[in-house]
Amino acid sequence: MRILSGIQSSGKLHLGNYFGMMKPAISLQEKGDPFIFIANYHALTTVHDRERLLTDTRDVALDFLACGLDPERTVFFRQSDVPEVQELAWLLSIVTPMGLLERCHSYKDKLAKGLAATHGLFAYPVLMAADILLYQSNLVPVGKDQKQHLEVTRDIAIKFNNEFGEIFTIPEPYIPDEVAVVPGLDGQKMSKSYGNTVELFGPIKEAKARIMRIVTDSTPLEAPKNPDTCNVFALYKLFATPEQRAEMEQNYRGGNYGYGSAKKALFELFQETFAPLRAKREELEKNLDYVEEVLRKGAERARAAASITLDKARSAVGLC
Ligand code: ADP
Ligand code: TRP
Repeated sequence: MRILSGIQSSGKLHLGNYFGMMKPAISLQEKGDPFIFIANYHALTTVHDRERLLTDTRDVALDFLACGLDPERTVFFRQSDVPEVQELAWLLSIVTPMGLLERCHSYKDKLAKGLAATHGLFAYPVLMAADILLYQSNLVPVGKDQKQHLEVTRDIAIKFNNEFGEIFTIPEPYIPDEVAVVPGLDGQKMSKSYGNTVELFGPIKEAKARIMRIVTDSTPLEAPKNPDTCNVFALYKLFATPEQRAEMEQNYRGGNYGYGSAKKALFELFQETFAPLRAKREELEKNLDYVEEVLRKGAERARAAASITLDKARSAVGLC
């Protein structure tokens, strides 16, 4: 089973990325034949700064390797090292209805945030469909906000197959229920564009300060509290073992337990989880040649798979 996911290199990765996409994708490593890539072509739709794009791309590679991506098992590569994806995007674009792209929330949200309506932003889902279909992916682990893009991918694949023959596997999204949307400090979806994130590998002092700033209600210390409506608990339960989670629920419901204590407990779990990964990341940072070699080998393996699909698609439409 081909499992594939990608993440844009357009900023520092945060807990939303980790629980929404990285952890599920990494934990599927044992179950199939995984591909994970750094979507730097996609990042170009919002990042127009050479040095930043290069640094962010390198940082995403370090983050994934530190978080447990095993490059022996997983084909790990930079999107732009497999330019075949651009040709496939073109072939897909000839069957993609404008209306399908016009309905995409992500495009509309980006315009609402003030980004210019470029062709790149508009065609973003077509390139994403090419990423997925090029490798005949069966399962695509992503956060809930990417679900519509997966639906677009399926629509495009079905249309192409109907018109030109059975070229593409129809992919399924993989979105674990319990982490569908990770809340940020303010309770909205955690996202770099809302400034409400906790970065995975930023300065530790800042992570602590940010966790202590998570918005809570004004229930007094003595009163029982509802874990189900609390942003601190929503993050805590992502880290906690079932026992830790049950104990924290009891603390909330029993009263005489303040949000400050819950935040400290959350920070401790954050530290416990990320301190060893941070150490690993520091080691990798001293060995960037190794990281580059991993990406180079990954691209070689990815290109071998890509060329098989692209050849079929080229032949199906009559280019060869
Ligand atoms: P951001 O919203 O910070 O720009 P991206 O859109 O680059 O993040 O998301 C990269 C991946 O991480 C996607 O698969 C996305 O669904 C997932 N993701 C991002 N934020 C969250 C979140 N708050 N909850 C769950 N998944 C998320
Ligand atoms: N659009 C995805 C995001 O913002 C990144 C992405 C690009 C992707 N191509 C993909 C995810 C293919 C899964 C599969 O997070």
